[in-house]
Amino acid sequence: MKTFSYVAAGLVAVAALAGIEACSATKNDAASPAPEPIEAGAPDAESSYPPVTLAAEPQRTGDPAKGYRALVNEAYVPCGIPYSAYSQVFPTVAEDKKIPGREGRNATLAYDFTAMTTKDGVELVTSNCLTCHAGRINGKLVVGLGAADGDYTDDAASRIQSTGYVGALLTDPKERAEWMKWKERVDTVAPYSVLSTRGPNPADGFTAVLFAHHDPKTMAWSKTPLLDVPPPVDLPVDVPPWWRMKKKTSMFYVGGGRGDHARIMMTASVLCTSSVEESKAIDAYFADIRSWIANLDPPAYPFPIDRTLAGRGRTVFEGTCSRCHGTYGDGGQYPNRLLSTEEIGTDPLLASGTAQFAGPYVAWFKDSFFGDIARLEPQKGYVAPPLDGIWATAPYLHNGSVPTIAALLDSTQRPTYWTRSFDSKDYDAAALGWLFTALDHGKKDEPDPNTSHAIYDTTQIGYANSGHTYGDGLSADDRAAVIEYLKTL
Ligand code: HEC
Ligand code: HEC
Repeated sequence: MKTFSYVAAGLVAVAALAGIEACSATKNDAASPAPEPIEAGAPDAESSYPPVTLAAEPQRTGDPAKGYRALVNEAYVPCGIPYSAYSQVFPTVAEDKKIPGREGRNATLAYDFTAMTTKDGVELVTSNCLTCHAGRINGKLVVGLGAADGDYTDDAASRIQSTGYVGALLTDPKERAEWMKWKERVDTVAPYSVLSTRGPNPADGFTAVLFAHHDPKTMAWSKTPLLDVPPPVDLPVDVPPWWRMKKKTSMFYVGGGRGDHARIMMTASVLCTSSVEESKAIDAYFADIRSWIANLDPPAYPFPIDRTLAGRGRTVFEGTCSRCHGTYGDGGQYPNRLLSTEEIGTDPLLASGTAQFAGPYVAWFKDSFFGDIARLEPQKGYVAPPLDGIWATAPYLHNGSVPTIAALLDSTQRPTYWTRSFDSKDYDAAALGWLFTALDHGKKDEPDPNTSHAIYDTTQIGYANSGHTYGDGLSADDRAAVIEYLKTL
């Protein structure tokens, strides 16, 4: 459901072509192990905000190999643009945009597009999970790494204009009908998928609107919203890496995805689905997709590691961080803890019952096909995530407000205003994260809109870089040791 790379990137190309200027790993599935509580010292007992432990719940088992096949070949977001238009715009695809395991026409498409043929025989190209859930690090595309360079800063009007340009490439009435279906849906969410800043993702905001346009019982699409839709919010969310689902008992930063995870993952299909029957057919292979995701390992740190320093760092980490983030290696335990916003002190906007986690949408979900076996139960706090592969997942915190681990662990080093190149080779191996430039001014003092979009301004609502000061008390040596240890996870 990126829906928007068509618009943000693809359709700019469509527009150009039309001569119109556009505005600017596989093992058998193991059910998630039940978390064993970590008994670690007194600090939690002293806190006035004790953490919540999210208990494991049964998951449908699946076949990870079948899951990967479905992930990269099945059209689970079943509407899109006719292939005849797509192929005019993208006659060839760069090799570094192709991924293994793709069949038929999919093998010729970029990783974030999937081919399908409708019942009426219309060949379409649709979006898939990898728009948001594949990302580059040091130039290498990694499936399951959150995309940290997405750009959702185009305004709604220019997107709606862009979806229109596709029509100029089509004459066949069946193709035009498919294009119009896709256009109606993408245009509906356009205002809810605009962010002020490049990098973070708007999925939480527009998923809510897609819920509002479906009858929960029949899943029929309604042109007009069936629930009150509040004005769009500029809510930045950093796409989390999929490999955390090996250990996590809940989905989402606020721990809100409970019950059957596969059913929640397939909500990405609501951009296009119009019936329970269609949703059931997609759901049939989602236990396999979940199983692949829950068996995924993070990429290994590719640069040298000082093992002696890392060994010291492990001791510091286990004394300071493990009560929330768990222990690693043989016999490692992950506690699945959610910390209240008061305790953690990071930006509270996402955890304040906003976007898809607002009351009416939670109620919609409960009444819907999804609610049969899954629940949305957002909490006023954030899950302390497992830190496997954390070296690759900058920027940090749920809103992506902190560019490096070094800055996360020393809050005096966090930049108030910062920007970066969005080139994944601009990686800082010493600080673990993105090379960035600290600026002396925020968005409102930046006249050039393109420069302004690339500024992460932590004074904006939702964008704060406060809280999580657990590294501040460490000596510089201990902090460096913890950073070295994190490279090994
Ligand atoms: C438009 C972007 C987008 C698309 C498309 C998308 N996701 Fe996500 N996904 C997100 C964002 C953003 C989050 C974090 C939301 C939050 O925690 O509030 C997320 C969270 C998740 C999580 C939870 C991870 C965790 O640590 O809690 C899983 C699993 C997931 N998505 C799977 C999928 C699958 C499978 C698909 C395709 C069927 C998909 N997503 C499509 C943006 C997207
Ligand atoms: C009291 C619990 C707690 C302690 C102690 C703690 N953390 Fe965290 N940590 C969290 C929570 C909760 C989050 C998620 C906050 C958010 O996203 O807003 C988090 C986030 C992080 C992240 C960012 C993850 C991401 O996806 O961006 C890193 C890295 C991290 N912690 C490392 C550490 C290290 C290293 C220590 C020890 C020096 C530590 N934490 C101590 C609770 C804790």
